[in-house]
Order: sequence, then structure tokens, then C-alpha cells
Amino acid sequence: MVILVTGGTGYIGSHTCLALLEAGFTVIVADNLCNSRAETLDRVMQITNKEIIFYEIDVTNAASVEQIFTDHRIEGVIHFAAYKAVGESVREPLKYYHNNINSTLVLAEACLKHEVRRFVLSSSATVYGENDVPFVESMKLQPTANPYGESKIISERILRDVANANSWFSVAILRYFNPVGAHVSGLIGEEPRGTPGNLMPYITQVAKGKIGKLSVFGGDYPTVDGTGVRDYIHVMDLAEGHVAAMNLLGEGIHTYNLGTGKGTSVLELISIFEEEVGIKVPFEIMERRPGDIAECYAEVSKAKEELYWNVKRDIRDMCRDAWRFESNL
Ligand code: NAD
Ligand code: UD1
Repeated sequence: MVILVTGGTGYIGSHTCLALLEAGFTVIVADNLCNSRAETLDRVMQITNKEIIFYEIDVTNAASVEQIFTDHRIEGVIHFAAYKAVGESVREPLKYYHNNINSTLVLAEACLKHEVRRFVLSSSATVYGENDVPFVESMKLQPTANPYGESKIISERILRDVANANSWFSVAILRYFNPVGAHVSGLIGEEPRGTPGNLMPYITQVAKGKIGKLSVFGGDYPTVDGTGVRDYIHVMDLAEGHVAAMNLLGEGIHTYNLGTGKGTSVLELISIFEEEVGIKVPFEIMERRPGDIAECYAEVSKAKEELYWNVKRDIRDMCRDAWRFESNL
């Protein structure tokens, strides 16, 4: 099957390209490199010994996207390309609505025109907003506090309407929990620009000595030890979830949580990382980060039952693999 992967040079996209190639798919990547580097694809090709066709284009540009669909008989689209920094989305909402929604519109239009039947959207657990844990796909979504989250809710809605109007069009909405870690080779991984906003890359940079200490945002949440609890998922397990969705997606629109179903607190993660890597991570408990919720973890039985997908890697693998990649940089 020939798959167009938008945002395929990015963090989750590159790991998914790797998993797709290993599963025998032909992979075409479209990325404008606004948050990634083309060399990442060389690494993926080096690891898999397989080719990727690369288009350096902006997927909000309908003519550029049309060219790909004319050049190749695309059979499925996985749409990762988006801006993802929550804080920036509050400061520059139009930038986020423009990129994240127009890209979805342009790709959905191309799929209808060229009769491409399978579409997978990267969504996020952030769409649940403040809800009771574990988060279940059938829950009513709460408005999110930021334009990034809203742009995902709107993209989900657009694809739902398109699938409802075209019975042959299959859509998987994949709601990711907290992707961390890296491919076991240590050749590809997460490379945030500037100071990381997310916890795991921050921990690895503190461990490497790039940053003095970690600020733990809040020690008074109603959780096991007062710090925020999240459902960390290894990026390769997440990548394999996309392969499962491409293989098994039925007609209509289907929404799946991709997480482990287990929550880990910030302090637990620090302590597991220290044990696995053998380096101390100095930290200080600070004020809560505005917009954060206490706990977020997934109910994952739907993806297990319908996609026959299950995670294979645990939190210790996530720490080791994240560190291997950071120490190679
Ligand atoms: P990333 O920034 O590493 O990858 C996104 C890629 O899309 C980048 O390579 C970027 O250059 C590209 N891109 C952005 N806009 C584009 C455009 N208009 N045209 C072409 N390319 C464009 O991010 P990621 O962490 O790999 O996230 C991938 C997807 O998963 C995003 O949709 C994100 O919202 C979603 N997601 C990520 C997380 C996370 O924690 N990383 C969690 C939930 C959902
Ligand atoms: C973030 C995004 C969310 C996205 C998710 C997936 C924000 C506000 N939300 O959520 O939209 O879907 O990533 O990856 O950015 N923490 C610290 N110190 C730090 C960084 C984080 O204590 O320096 C804590 C946070 O308070 C939280 C946990 O670590 O409890 C995880 O934080 P983070 O990695 O940023 O992910 P989320 O907040 O879940």
C-alpha cells in the first residue's frame, strides 16, 4: 500500500515511517521542514534499508498536494503535519488555526478527488479537557483552554462530517497520550528547538548537563505524590498503532486512544529515569503550570480489541531509549 505521510520528518512521523517501511508499505513524505530536518529521513532509510520518497512542500498548499496525488497512486494518508506548541498557540491563534485546519481540509479534498479511502489523523488527549480519568473515546469533549487543542477538535469534526457524507471514506482519529522515547537505534528521536516544553526531553537535557535543574510544575495536585500524572507511551508503540490502523481500519470514522492505560507521576518518572540511566536529575517543586490538569491517562481497550494493537515497551524502555538518543546528539 502506498501511504502519504504528512509531517513525516517530525518526531512521531519519522518513527511511523520506520514502522510502515518495516511492515512493507511504500512511504511518501510531505513536510515543509518548519520543525524538523530532512536528514532524519536518511536515518530512517539507513535503519530500514528502504527508500522514502520526499516532497518538501507545505500541505496547506492545495496545488503542491495535488501534485503528489497526481504523481502517485496514494492509497492512504497519515496526517501528522501540524504546529503543536500549546503556549505559542495562545499567543498566535491564527497561525495554529490556519496550519492545522487548512492542512486537514486540503488533504481531505485531495482524498475525495482521488478516491483515497483511508485517512489517519493525529489527534491528542488534550481534546478531552478536564474530564474524569481514564479518558474514554465516547466521552463528551470539553472545550480546551488553547487554540492548539481546539484546532484538533475542529479537524476531528471536519473528518467526521466528510466520512458521514462519503460512506467509502474510512477515518481513524488517533488520540495520542504522552509520546516519549526514541527508536532503539538512538538514531532518531525527539529534538525540540530551544528549551523543551515537555517533561521527558527536559529531564534528558538536565541529565546531560545542558540545563541545571528541572522545575516540577506543582506539588499539590490530588495525585499519588502531589505531582501531575500522565500516560507516557513509547513513540515506537505509537508508531505501530498507525500501522495497525492502516491495516485494519473499517469503513466510517473510528476514534482510538493510543496510550498505555497507566499513569506515572512526575516524581515517579524522575526516579525511574535515575535508576535506569544512573544519573541524578536535580529538581525543585514550583508553582503549577497554568492550563495543566492533575491526571490524564487512557482507557485503551478499544484500540486493543479493534486494531489488535498493544504496547510492547514500558516506562523503563522509554527512559533508556530517550536517554540513548539524547546522549548521541
Ligand atoms: P513535530 O513538530 O516533530 O512534527 C510535525 C511535522 O510537521 C514537522 O516535521 C513539521 O515540519 C511538519 N509540518 C508542520 N506544518 C506543516 C505544513 N503546513 N506542511 C508541511 N509540513 C508541516 O511534531 P510531532 O510531535 O511529531 O507531532 C506530530 C503530530 O502529532 C502533530 O499533529 C501533533 O499535534 C500530534 N500530537 C503530538 C503529541 C506530542 O506530544 N508530540 C501529542 C499529541 C498529538
Ligand atoms: C503537553 C501538552 C498537550 C499535549 C501533550 C502530549 C501543554 C500544556 N500540553 O501535555 O497539549 O497533547 O503534551 O505530549 O504543553 N512538567 C514539569 N516540568 C516540566 C515539564 C512538564 O513538571 O518542565 C509536568 C507537567 O506539569 C505535567 C507532566 O510534567 O504534569 C507532563 O508535562 P508535558 O510533558 O508538558 O505534557 P502534558 O502537560 O501532558
